[in-house]
Amino acid sequence: MEEIKVNKRGFFWLFNKYWFTIKGLNEKTVNPDPFLQFDQWFKDAIKTGIPFHEAMTLSTISPEGRPSSRVVLLKEFDGNGFVFYTNYDSRKSKEIDQSGFAALSFFWADLNRQLRIEGMVERVLEDQADRYHQSRPRGSQLGAWASPQSQEIPDREYLEKKANEIKLKFNNNKVPRPPNWGGYRVIPDRIEFWQARADRLHDRIVYSKIKEGGWKIFRIAP
Ligand SMILES: Cc1cc2nc3c(=O)[nH]c(=O)nc-3n(C[C@H](O)[C@H](O)[C@H](O)COP(=O)(O)O)c2cc1C
Repeated sequence: MEEIKVNKRGFFWLFNKYWFTIKGLNEKTVNPDPFLQFDQWFKDAIKTGIPFHEAMTLSTISPEGRPSSRVVLLKEFDGNGFVFYTNYDSRKSKEIDQSGFAALSFFWADLNRQLRIEGMVERVLEDQADRYHQSRPRGSQLGAWASPQSQEIPDREYLEKKANEIKLKFNNNKVPRPPNWGGYRVIPDRIEFWQARADRLHDRIVYSKIKEGGWKIFRIAP
């Protein structure tokens, strides 16, 4: 039998974990708008105190059809899509720019929930990226200049030397956004909400974008 441990997240955590598993998810009663349904689940994850609730796995594909995944943080979302920030010269960015597509997934263990998002990707506007960059701690702003993300470097000293040079260069001045750093928006055409249920008879509710507008909502087998 599963050992039930009440961790520091306390009663609310335990209640949610089992309440949602009993309640399940129904294609007839989910929000007709997948972004609002996402918003509800995201709020549940925050309320439950899930560490790194905004961490999501981003999968991209190379021109040869070779997939790769890594974790990034969801920084903004609305009815247009899901935004994360990164280095535009990184491996993920090259793959996104080449294929135009990406997939995201969340796993919120404390809620027995998984979310899968797929769609086309676009870069966010420069203004939006500037605003987000300026909202970051100074250390992160400097780090974005210092790190040639995904490129081979000789050793750690190389990175630390570069970080020091950048620090001296900007001194006490405002740190502008590096031109090769910004955001991507994943614009979903398919979102799947997965809720664990008893006996592996999980609920899987899919929203699939209809060309003419709106979403087809249906259930798939676990
Ligand atoms: C919890 C967590 C959050 C992360 N958030 C970001 C992020 O928001 N943006 C980013 O570029 N990398 C982030 N990373 C690092 C990436 O996982 C990855 O190492 C990096 O982006 C380089 O990936 P690439 O070489 O495939 O482009 C995060 C890693 C972890 C573990």
